Amino acid sequence: MCGIVAYIGPKDASPFLLEGLQRLEYRGYDSAGVAVIAPATKSVPAKLKVCKVKGRVADLAAALPARFKGGAGIGHTRWATHGVPSDANAHPHTDNEGRIAVVHNGIIENADELRAKLAADGALFRSETDTEVLAHLIAAHRADGGELEDAVRAALKLVVGTYGIAVLDAEQTDRIVVARNGSPIVLGIGEKEMFAASDVSALVRYTRQVVHLEDGELATVRADGFRTFTEDARTVTRQPSTVDWEIGSYDTGGYAHYLLKEIHEQPGAVERTLSGRLDERFSTAHLGGLNLDARELREIRRVKILGCGSAYYAGEMGAQLIEELARIPAHSEPASEFRYRNPVIEADTLYVAVSQSGETYDTLAAVQEIKRKGGRVLGVVNTVGSAIARECDGGIYLHAGPEISVASTKAFTSTVVAFALLALHFGRIHDLSPADGRRIVAALKALPEQIRDMLGQEREIEKLAAEYAQSQGMMFIGRVRGYPVAREGAQKLKEISYVHAEAYPASELKHGPLALISPELPTVALVPDDELLDKNLTALGEIKARSGRVLAIAHRPIEARLADHCVVVPKSEPELDPLLLNIPLQLLAYHAAVALDRDVDKPRNLAKSVTVE
Ligand code: F6R
Repeated sequence: MCGIVAYIGPKDASPFLLEGLQRLEYRGYDSAGVAVIAPATKSVPAKLKVCKVKGRVADLAAALPARFKGGAGIGHTRWATHGVPSDANAHPHTDNEGRIAVVHNGIIENADELRAKLAADGALFRSETDTEVLAHLIAAHRADGGELEDAVRAALKLVVGTYGIAVLDAEQTDRIVVARNGSPIVLGIGEKEMFAASDVSALVRYTRQVVHLEDGELATVRADGFRTFTEDARTVTRQPSTVDWEIGSYDTGGYAHYLLKEIHEQPGAVERTLSGRLDERFSTAHLGGLNLDARELREIRRVKILGCGSAYYAGEMGAQLIEELARIPAHSEPASEFRYRNPVIEADTLYVAVSQSGETYDTLAAVQEIKRKGGRVLGVVNTVGSAIARECDGGIYLHAGPEISVASTKAFTSTVVAFALLALHFGRIHDLSPADGRRIVAALKALPEQIRDMLGQEREIEKLAAEYAQSQGMMFIGRVRGYPVAREGAQKLKEISYVHAEAYPASELKHGPLALISPELPTVALVPDDELLDKNLTALGEIKARSGRVLAIAHRPIEARLADHCVVVPKSEPELDPLLLNIPLQLLAYHAAVALDRDVDKPRNLAKSVTVE
């Protein structure tokens, strides 16, 4: 949610800033802006130049004056929280004199109070944002001279909230000051030049050597190096690390969209999630990061899974896997609800936080609440070193690779695989037999190839999607294992195609939603070949009897009297079937969105990583 870039060095900053912002645009895309310090000439002192627009980074590039040059610059792409998307609310924000420029991710909770005080002292506010408060506050502390970093430190001491910021000062042109508290900032080390960004994806084209700031830390970044320190001015030493994700992971790699690329990356993502974790000798999973031994795991009586959106639905699949394989009661709940209901935290419950980004604020807040009450939390997280990963007591990294498209696909699938590993591990500590363990291990190993097979049916699904995309809405139904699949399928369709989609347990149809069935509202039905097959076929009959159209996702062709179309999915073990049944629904949503000419990777009103409440 929102992206920050910064550059200081001998080159002109603008090309990097624009390119970096384009890479971060998936995090927020309703307005964008840049500021550079135009160097002093004999007659004119160094001067801050700002250009910002409502719209996309491409609109910013078009609006940028030809003579927008400077060797130090900051940029931002925004997803509006305080104030509507507009030129005025776009970042960077400046002080009265236009000397200090700030870009900011996060939320300043006491912005109203600070704004009133600053306005009383003469600050002129030109936007509705909380960020502008920071620009005036830093300027107020710079008024007495001194160093920019001291003014930033002093300003941040007065701030309550979360931030990742980058600050420019036209009177101290040799530096950029950045700070982090709850919103990531990464420094990139170049050859006599330095970069900073809120996400490594903006940096990998320029450098693989990065330094992740910790919460509560600041850095002074100069062309020839950096210094990290705490809010109390204590110097801290941070060693650079090497980004291990391939540069190609951040490109569309010849695909029309990141989403399609990420759907097709799933076999490899699953292989990486499984890599080194299957223990064939004992028919179990080896999960080194749990930080819980078998004895401690045996004491766990319940599992509570927390996540938001697709992460929550992946958690629902995870809960079913844990209940089925380990026979431990497990339940998934939206982290966004959990954190507001004063949850009961029990010593014998294992809490599991699920997040692709590792930044989702509601999930992070839920983790912090559990920890504050003495609970034990594991993370199932994709982004290594992210806030949620760091907050948890242990966990499982997905290793799915960067997910750029706003809608989650490969991280979703890898999350379910990670839960299958956790459930297998738990199960084998409890009563799952070696034979059943072997059955699951073999099925997990087969998944990448089965996903490849499924993706081979893309052309047929594309045709179906073009037809179903014209509907006024769609119903998704599934029973027990199929219900989370239906929920995720409906979520994917609505968020990227804007076709209204509802998910229901197939068993609930006759308790209300059957009233909606008509030729205009087709149903996507999950019909796995399991012990509930007959029940599911009965539900199809009920829909067809009301002239409803049915697209069945099944393990074998469904007769024409019960389904208008059928996509046949490779069969796994029943516990793992949901994962494969979900793949055609991703393709259905993607191609429906393309058929409707939607902005697939950046759906309206959404952003990747929801770092606000
Ligand atoms: C849906 C989607 C969102 C995210 C949710 C949680 O396709 O992407 O629903 O799943 O915002 O995000 P993470 O997993 O980053 O915590």
